[in-house]
Amino acid sequence: TPAAGRIEFDNVTFGFPGAETPVINSASFVAEPGKTTAIIGSTGAGKTVLLNLMLRLYDPQQGSVTIDGAPVDKLTRAQLAESISLVPQRPYLFGGTIATNLRFGRTDASDDELWEALRVAQGEDFVREKELGLDEPVSQGGTNVSGGQRQRLSIARALVAKPLVYLFDDSFSALDVATDARLRAALPDATEGATTIIVAQRVSTITEADQILVMEGGEIVGRGTHDELLTDNEVYQEIVRS
Ligand code: CTP
Ligand code: MG
Repeated sequence: TPAAGRIEFDNVTFGFPGAETPVINSASFVAEPGKTTAIIGSTGAGKTVLLNLMLRLYDPQQGSVTIDGAPVDKLTRAQLAESISLVPQRPYLFGGTIATNLRFGRTDASDDELWEALRVAQGEDFVREKELGLDEPVSQGGTNVSGGQRQRLSIARALVAKPLVYLFDDSFSALDVATDARLRAALPDATEGATTIIVAQRVSTITEADQILVMEGGEIVGRGTHDELLTDNEVYQEIVRS
């Protein structure tokens, strides 16, 4: 089982069966424990597929994805799920209660831990307003909570699991700018030591990232800090302007 959560992509190429062009083309990067790696790029650039390759929803045709040096295809899905928490682009809640949804990744979490995760995920207030609090029923698919609330519960669920690696797929763009800022201010303490990978649409979400990968058409066309990319990457400059 992985112990640190260092993710490495080495020359990874992946295409869907039958498609002519790969959706990920020769991608190489390292996401280090204790650091935040951000991924930005236009729609269809391959950001979600890149995250899904870490969880082995797909396996690459070329190259390797490793966690702490071990190829992810040598790990069981259970080992991967224990090490990596994904907050999907379209979060899913199952029928149950807020508490059962939050404990999905770690059933022995205490109520205090759930509240702490909700505080960080900016979901504490709306859960406190519910008559039954943590025991408030959630319908299948989460249809009785708003999209923004679903997002926050899904983020809280990942925090409760305390994984080595957090994958946030566009988890902050549905939040208003102020909530996004509060959440990101609280996140470093809550995820300390973990490998954090954030797919974002707004540049303001990722200016503090240790490393930003700029994706376009399945390729990593730029990498660096916000300041570095502002100086030397045209695609990034274009995203900043738009
Ligand atoms: N794709 C596909 N079949 C899938 C999923 C994705 O053919 N089951 C293709 C998409 O059409 C796209 C490419 O793979 O051309 C990359 O998709 P994705 O990684 O989902 O793009 P994102 O960068 O995540 O785009 P968005 O910002 O819209 O989420
Ligand atoms: Mg996506």
